[in-house]
Amino acid sequence: MQARLKDRAIVVVGAGTGIGAATVERLCAEGARVCAADLNLPAAQVIAARMTASGHEAHALGVDIADEDSVGACIADAAALLGGIDGVHVNAADMGAIMQDSDALGVDLAIFDRTIAVNLRGHLLCTRAALPHLLESPHGAIVYTSSAAAISGEPERPSYAASKSGLNALMRHVASKWGRQGLTANCVAPGFVMTPEMVAAGTVPPEWIDHCLAHTRSTRLGRVEDIAAMVALLLSADGRWINGQVIHVNGGTLLT
Ligand SMILES: NC(=O)c1ccc[n+]([C@@H]2O[C@H](COP(=O)([O-])OP(=O)(O)OC[C@H]3O[C@@H](n4cnc5c(N)ncnc54)[C@H](O)[C@@H]3O)[C@@H](O)[C@H]2O)c1
Repeated sequence: MQARLKDRAIVVVGAGTGIGAATVERLCAEGARVCAADLNLPAAQVIAARMTASGHEAHALGVDIADEDSVGACIADAAALLGGIDGVHVNAADMGAIMQDSDALGVDLAIFDRTIAVNLRGHLLCTRAALPHLLESPHGAIVYTSSAAAISGEPERPSYAASKSGLNALMRHVASKWGRQGLTANCVAPGFVMTPEMVAAGTVPPEWIDHCLAHTRSTRLGRVEDIAAMVALLLSADGRWINGQVIHVNGGTLLT
């Protein structure tokens, strides 16, 4: 593994499970010093402890990105622990709300509001808290996790799609406003990725897996490592001239 991120101070928000946990592993493997922040603090502690045990610097922090004070405290703590912040991966989403995100006629407005509060407003709060630190760094970079759902058009989960479309817009704004001060802002937009937690829970219907395999231009389903690799690139010097982009990582399921 290259050490493209040697000694970089990076915060992953939504780091407890799935793509975020894999990103913490990838960033550490590339030499970064990482704060793993999550609503699920015990899960963040597990991944941070695993990284520490294998010789990396990793800290766990609790955060609720729907809460402004919580985000402010988390980013301040991360900056203190790491001595500044060079990069942030804002990855958290309320994946529970998706299950009730039916359609525009039927969706409970509380589900819509919760989805926007976490997946979009929460990312704005993280951006606001982290920006002053990122602008002080010569490597300042922010990566948000969007989704193919932002542009694919689907008959269900309108709140989720709207939140991710909004996130793409937020990212473009951040790149446009602060790019000339040395910041890069990008979204990684995964297609369907089977996380280790989904595999362990066995909750993904086999028909859905067959559907995804039938519609990919690749040979397999997505893995969390596929997304983590793109995040690492976007946070590294190799990603320095990539700015304001939504990078789709989906095995060719959706062509953009
Ligand atoms: N897995 C996929 O197929 C897929 C596809 C496209 C996009 N994504 C996106 O990837 C990201 C990660 O998804 P995942 O599949 O790894 O799911 P996941 O549920 O494993 O990860 C989401 C993480 O966010 C955390 N979180 C939720 N609400 C939070 C809050 N209010 N404050 C702080 N942390 C909070 C959760 O505790 C969890 O650790 C999400 O943004 C999701 O929308 C996933």
